[in-house]
Amino acid sequence: MSDAPYDLIVIGTGPGGYVCAIRAAQLGLKTAVVEKRKTHGGTCLNVGCIPSKALLHASHLFEESKKHFADLGIVVGETKLDLQKMMGFKSEGVDGNTKGVEFLLKKNKIDAHQGTGRITAPGQIEVTADDGSTKTFQAKSIVIATGSDVTRLRGVEIDERTVVSSTGALTLETVPGKLLVIGAGVIGLELGSVWRRLGAEVTVVEYLDRILPGMDVEIGKQFQRILGKQGMQFRLSTKVTGVETTNAGARVTLEPAAGGTPETLDVDVVLVSIGRVPYTDGLGLEGVGVAKDDKGRVVVDAHYATNVPGIYAIGDVIAGPMLAHKAEDEGIALAEMIAGKGGHVNYGVIPNVVYTFPEVASVGKSEEELKAEGVSYSVGKFPFTANGRAKANGQTDGFVKILADAATDRVLGAHIIGPEAGNLIHEVAVAMEFGASSEDIARTCHAHPTLAEAVKEAALGVEKRAIHM
Ligand code: FAD
Ligand code: NAI
Repeated sequence: MSDAPYDLIVIGTGPGGYVCAIRAAQLGLKTAVVEKRKTHGGTCLNVGCIPSKALLHASHLFEESKKHFADLGIVVGETKLDLQKMMGFKSEGVDGNTKGVEFLLKKNKIDAHQGTGRITAPGQIEVTADDGSTKTFQAKSIVIATGSDVTRLRGVEIDERTVVSSTGALTLETVPGKLLVIGAGVIGLELGSVWRRLGAEVTVVEYLDRILPGMDVEIGKQFQRILGKQGMQFRLSTKVTGVETTNAGARVTLEPAAGGTPETLDVDVVLVSIGRVPYTDGLGLEGVGVAKDDKGRVVVDAHYATNVPGIYAIGDVIAGPMLAHKAEDEGIALAEMIAGKGGHVNYGVIPNVVYTFPEVASVGKSEEELKAEGVSYSVGKFPFTANGRAKANGQTDGFVKILADAATDRVLGAHIIGPEAGNLIHEVAVAMEFGASSEDIARTCHAHPTLAEAVKEAALGVEKRAIHM
């Protein structure tokens, strides 16, 4: 048994865990974290949000310089790819971020124990280091923030070279001639875009009849058209029934989702991106009796408490969208509650962004959700083709859509496809947090010329009084 007991030990230093630990330490709790990776930051910083955004940024500039710089009068000669250097740029971004978390943990005097944590009893954690040595720690509260892992496709082995998950797709050593992506969700479309921009022929196979199934249908349709124009190919309502690795790559067997004649495609690399599952392997939950649901998620109440007193859970390992900012906000709320304050996450206002070009962003309800709930709503829409700044920049694909309650005008949701959509959505998120009406957004003076004026015009559009269309 080591040292004096902690107030709080967090298992996992992803965005949920490290943020929870920092907030707890700020509030005066004696806090420790346990992380089995060599670096902090979890999936997001090591093999998720950060490396994928670095590659999206670099590959976007690569494509811009190849296809669009000349239109702007910028002559740069032949654009060439140095993939190794681009991967180095990505790794620098990852290092900078993971070291930043290490610094913050130290700054907040949080003890960081490297190794795999297992809950051996309520209030007790055993940490096994890589060399097999173990240490046991006591804590009044334990937070499970162990995140998620790739969903496997039955019968398809991921070797992270020919058949890759997102992790392997972030470290390919050469640009594949042909890349087949299984699943038209966020990972498939973001990483599919990276490799298409760098020269791969990309085909996305999706089981359902639409891409980004969780998103507003109109946005999904337009997004598919835009990605199609960029050269991404889609096979919707199609399922992969087998992947066989060959000397040259992989042979993929597909058939219509409803059943029918199979066909085969020979490709160089297959990306399996069909979702993620909560990760609780080796945590010892069965031993202490922590309940999980039928999807393997740790069951918690509104205060993130499991059924075992003193054990809590946040982030990807519990229900809700698997997003870094959702995990972070839960971490803050939980730390505040454990410290005796009131913590809160508004699940109705969690933005969702796809970082392609153009970006796709949403917050609140989609039209389909409002219809299903029987809520009457008004729609205000404004295209970027009518926005001065988008026109000046030559980036006019997409539109802003604002959904407001037909009776009260309260903003219920917003959906944006277009340049900087991921930043623009936050104006509406803040408005929704304050319970604003579309009139409130419409009456707010927006600087000209900005892309944000499209948000104002969409708000004006709720009452059919947009000025520039
Ligand atoms: P994680 O980040 O998964 O962290 C869990 C940590 O726990 C890990 O470091 C793991 O090593 C550790 N751990 C697990 N078990 C143990 C144990 N027993 N002992 C010790 N340590 C343990 N989300 C966004 O919001 N925006 C994005 O742009 C985005 N891009 C993504 C791109 C990709 C390719 C992927 C895969 C995901 C992306 N996500 C994105 C999702 C985001 O990464 C997750 O929602 C987020 O990381 C969840 O945070 P978490 O703290 O719950 O878990
Ligand atoms: P996803 O849930 O976003 O999409 C998976 C897609 O695969 C769905 O469209 C689904 O219908 C399809 N699918 C499922 N089984 C299939 C099958 N057998 N054959 C063909 N298609 C199939 O999952 P994804 O893309 O793997 O991402 C996992 C999570 O990571 C996301 O839910 C998201 O929360 C997070 N993430 C967030 C990002 C962001 O915020 N920008 C970026 C990347 C990941």
